[in-house]
Amino acid sequence: MSKIPVIANLFGTTDRVAAGLGLVPEKVPMLGEFLAALRAPAPVDGMRDALSRWPMLKAALATRPKITNRAPVQEVRLEGKDVDLTALPVQTCWPGDAGPLITWPVVLSRPFDSKPDDLARYNTGVYRAQVIGRNRLIMRWLAHRGGAAHHRGWMKAGQKMPVAIALGADPATLLSAALPLPENLSELGFSGVLRGVRTQLVAAKTVPLLVPAEAEIILEGWVSPTETAPEGPFGDHTGYYNSVEPFPLMEVTAITHRRDPLYLSTYTGRPPDEPSIIGQVFNDLTLPVIRQAIPEMRDLWLPPAACSYRMAVISIDKRYPGQAKRVMMSLWGMLTQFSYTKLIVVVDDDIDPRNWDDIAWALATRMDPARDVTILDRTPMDYLDFASPLEGLAGKMGIDATTKIGAETSREWGRVMETAPDDAHFAADLVGKYFPDFGQ
Ligand SMILES: Cc1cc2nc3c(=O)[nH]c(=O)nc-3n(C[C@H](O)[C@H](O)[C@H](O)COP(=O)(O)O)c2cc1C
Repeated sequence: MSKIPVIANLFGTTDRVAAGLGLVPEKVPMLGEFLAALRAPAPVDGMRDALSRWPMLKAALATRPKITNRAPVQEVRLEGKDVDLTALPVQTCWPGDAGPLITWPVVLSRPFDSKPDDLARYNTGVYRAQVIGRNRLIMRWLAHRGGAAHHRGWMKAGQKMPVAIALGADPATLLSAALPLPENLSELGFSGVLRGVRTQLVAAKTVPLLVPAEAEIILEGWVSPTETAPEGPFGDHTGYYNSVEPFPLMEVTAITHRRDPLYLSTYTGRPPDEPSIIGQVFNDLTLPVIRQAIPEMRDLWLPPAACSYRMAVISIDKRYPGQAKRVMMSLWGMLTQFSYTKLIVVVDDDIDPRNWDDIAWALATRMDPARDVTILDRTPMDYLDFASPLEGLAGKMGIDATTKIGAETSREWGRVMETAPDDAHFAADLVGKYFPDFGQ
């Protein structure tokens, strides 16, 4: 049994996720606006305005990663025959899992045509890795991830790709790797912005890469351009075991770690799990980016129970007929992640899209199934969705549960009942007078 202590559930509450981003929860939308500005081609009125609106941008410019040669993560170095992944406390989480699974790896890679110090071109992502031997892993990056894109470049050149895996990096590095950041933004640089302190990197020992100097453990190695192995089954965030699929093999050439390292872990399962809590904060971070494409959006909720992206409820300020359909199409088309959203419900802005009772009321009173349901066929879907008739291709459903206006209806629409303000005050005064403790 491994002597290395395991730490898990680091981001088990939304407050802790916000703290990992260096923020109190109320400031999360501000960071979202900053990310939206970075995506826009001409974000604001000049650099001076940008700097005054987002002090973080100033930090971003000042917090380029710093290269060091004194790295706690290299206090202990194991190479060659000393490499033994089975000495790490890697969990087998669910009874039907194929074997031990590294669940919180931060995977660092760079494109084929880059240099090791080309930090702006690095990608970091969290891609689980199955341990299949003392020095062998299966690297499970889904096809649309940054790591997979880099790997395609190295494969094309017929070369193995250098990869480093940080286990137990600081919260800013962990969350930057898990965030869907704009392609042009380096996660390593961005983690410095969140932390407010420059990311410290050190040259890896056996691969041409720079790695986080303050991490607990680093696995260095090479991902094969040709060899794959069957990965899984593993219990996943959908609440089901994945099907077995081939993914590339990684040979681990070195393990370096702190003198007394911690091993960071998590598990994925039917929500709520730790990734779904992170997803709730990311939901709010993404709102300003979505608002760029859908300015009439008031709020959007990705219910964690629907695996954090398979369903979306969006409230809009409705102004013209057919608007709900336009909103659905924009959402499905704007970010890769939303091409996997099977069901979108559009509601008016008097409906709280985060409240199931409100959603049910809107569906029950403002929607006609024959008129207001849009079905699309053979659209993209992630392979994890076994309910799709074809792997990678599935239907989508959009439900327009908004008030129908103009040519959308020829009937008189219902009027929402509300208590008259005077009556409401009278009732509140009565309750206050005779039941002073009510509602306390
Ligand atoms: C705990 C956890 C486990 C994850 N596991 C995987 C995985 O096995 N494969 C994958 O492609 N994405 C996985 N993800 C999602 C990606 O890390 C995430 O979408 C990230 O933004 C991808 O970065 P990229 O766009 O730079 O590729 C996981 C995320 C978390 C938080």
